[in-house]
Amino acid sequence: MVEQRLPKPMTRVRFPSSAPSQPFECGLWVRFFMTEKKVLSPEEIEILKKKHIRSFTLRRGHISQAQKRALDELLPRYAVQYNTELFDRKAAFGREAPFVLEIGCGMGETTASIAEQHPEVDFLGCEVFSAGVGALAKRLDEMHLDNVRIIQHDAVEVVKDMIAPDSLDGVHIFFPDPWRKARHHKRRLVAQPFIHELAARIRPGGYIHCATDWENYAEQMLEVLSGEPLLKNLHDGFSPVMANPITERPMTKFHARGERLGHGVWDLIFIRL
Ligand SMILES: C[S@@+](CC[C@H](N)C(=O)[O-])C[C@H]1O[C@@H](n2cnc3c(N)ncnc32)[C@H](O)[C@@H]1O
Repeated sequence: MVEQRLPKPMTRVRFPSSAPSQPFECGLWVRFFMTEKKVLSPEEIEILKKKHIRSFTLRRGHISQAQKRALDELLPRYAVQYNTELFDRKAAFGREAPFVLEIGCGMGETTASIAEQHPEVDFLGCEVFSAGVGALAKRLDEMHLDNVRIIQHDAVEVVKDMIAPDSLDGVHIFFPDPWRKARHHKRRLVAQPFIHELAARIRPGGYIHCATDWENYAEQMLEVLSGEPLLKNLHDGFSPVMANPITERPMTKFHARGERLGHGVWDLIFIRL
């Protein structure tokens, strides 16, 4: 008997190049024995338009008891909730001070160390993984630091929805996930259009400081940041130092690992025009 093979279900969504304001036939074609069209509501269109390729996957698992406890008992002291209203710095920190956004704090080692060295600066740390958020909250408590707030949410949305234009004195992106395979490069954070959105939130004269131990990503960072019209390189190419206009990037696990594995480490510091 000859086995009959069914056609593979396939979904393809097509959007018009300019965003429509009315409900429209978006061309959702579902091929499974037949072809049908679906009309999306304005709400569904908005949701789809907001979707972007994430620079992280929510799969990293282990969280210690101490980190869990920190999430429950300590995080409320430092947490900022994601919403679509602009972040009120004065309300969050109770003062007006230079303001630095750190994207991807990891376990918070760098964040806490820099915040301790600069009590005169306020920091907003953005991280998606609970273990990291718990670890950072624990460090802040142990070190008695009150100049850091934590937001557990995708930085791409935080920047777009909560950070006012020209409001950041600095941005730190230290050792973002390198997404090594070519087919995953689209997940890299230091890429357009995100860098343009981010640059527009830095005040003129403010800075963005990135670092990586992955050469191919370092080259991409240099290309993307150099190509952004709102930014100007503080150095000629990669930065020869780890210091930016506010602070020095401390040595961390990722830096040490990069050197141990012979990858090298690259810093890039650009100024907002
Ligand atoms: C390789 S770790 C580096 C951590 C830290 N910066 C350091 O140097 O130790 C990158 C971190 O970025 C976080 N991350 C990646 N994409 C993010 C996003 N869109 N928003 C917030 N955090 C993100 C990951 O969860 C991860 O903890």
